[in-house]
Amino acid sequence: MHNTSTVQAWRAGLLTFHADPAFSENAHSWIEDGLLIVADGKVQAAGDWSTLHASLPPGTPVTDWRGKIITAGFIDAHVHYPQTDMIASPAPGLLPWLEQYTFPTERAFADPAHAAQVAEFFLDELLRVGTTTALVYCTVHPQSVDAFFTASEARGLRMIAGKVLMDRHCPDFLCDTAEQGARDTEELIRRWHKHERSLYAITPRFAPTSTEEQMHLAGELARRYQDTYLQTHVSENEDECKWVKALYPQARSYLDVYDRYGMLRPRAVFGHCIWLDDEDRARIAATQSAAAVCPTSNLFLGSGLFDFEEADRAGMRMALATDVGAGTSFSMLQTMNEAYKVARLKGSYLPALRMFYLATLGAARSLHLDDRIGSLAAGNEADFVVLDPRATPLLARRTERADSLEEVLFALALLGDDRAIAATYSGGRQVHVR
Ligand code: GUN
Ligand code: ZN
Repeated sequence: MHNTSTVQAWRAGLLTFHADPAFSENAHSWIEDGLLIVADGKVQAAGDWSTLHASLPPGTPVTDWRGKIITAGFIDAHVHYPQTDMIASPAPGLLPWLEQYTFPTERAFADPAHAAQVAEFFLDELLRVGTTTALVYCTVHPQSVDAFFTASEARGLRMIAGKVLMDRHCPDFLCDTAEQGARDTEELIRRWHKHERSLYAITPRFAPTSTEEQMHLAGELARRYQDTYLQTHVSENEDECKWVKALYPQARSYLDVYDRYGMLRPRAVFGHCIWLDDEDRARIAATQSAAAVCPTSNLFLGSGLFDFEEADRAGMRMALATDVGAGTSFSMLQTMNEAYKVARLKGSYLPALRMFYLATLGAARSLHLDDRIGSLAAGNEADFVVLDPRATPLLARRTERADSLEEVLFALALLGDDRAIAATYSGGRQVHVR
């Protein structure tokens, strides 16, 4: 017996993945006239409208989104909420950009009221573009984490976030210490990890801004709290790579710095991964860590081109990500647009289905959360988006002429943005509508 008042249904095209389209012929299901049934915030069924609708309890509200496409909510595997206000700030490369814009902007998050206000705007923006889960960098201030999770829990969202650790090579006003950073992190893990839908990420910013002592303590926390996340940046920019080589001469590679401190493990997510070698890629794969691929950021800062083919050859888990504020859009559709072009410039090819996979189930697998989010599988948390192939005159004109699902999805990826998101749902609740 279930309480029928909590059952809801949506009629639309349904797209969901059960495998990686790059490695499986039968990776997705597509139901043109589908019905998604949600009970108590979880997916109860996703199938043909014609066979399922008779099973609905009498009086179940059915939202008619015919002509639109429901997919699992997008997952952004690397984004900085405090950098919302400095998106689109010009600088000649990563290191000057950090100095000129990032550090001064992050300073303001010492003020909890400011942090709370930016967190609200940031979450509005995520939901507007159909992103229902993100792996989020806060600032060095523990109160920036409290502000973020307070805001995301009020909306019932599944979010992963953490306090940045940095105790050197940064302005005094953003510096913690190895001991204080570790203490704050542990306290935040106890406060937020697995509280409601929140999950905690241990967050050393990147190797240059942590002393060996801080890296050691962060690695210890990563070992002690195995089911937390760990996020950082690796091999983004060539000047940064040279700097790391000088700071950690004993390490075999930039990634090896993190490896030596025990930071490669399931739920470790490494941003960028551009200047890796084969041994690095093999380590990411073997340890069930993952790469967060940030094409709009990498093109914007001129960091380099992620190698999808080599990543696939190594069997690396990977997910698409915006990396706002270096990323130039919150939209995972716009992120796919740029990912497609990055792949082309490396001589490879990303079909639209693969890109949608990398923003949904592929990302959930990278986060080891595919038993809860990333697809419309029965029992999953009902986080989903409604895509509108006719959102703009140009999209409508192109998708009317599409001969396949692949062409419709490709047009959405190349031409779509927040306008293509008709609605966003989290736990079966509407959290955005256009
Ligand atoms: N490396 C260290 N910090 C950052 C950051 O905030 N953004 C990017 N893109 N790279 C980084
Ligand atoms: Zn980043």
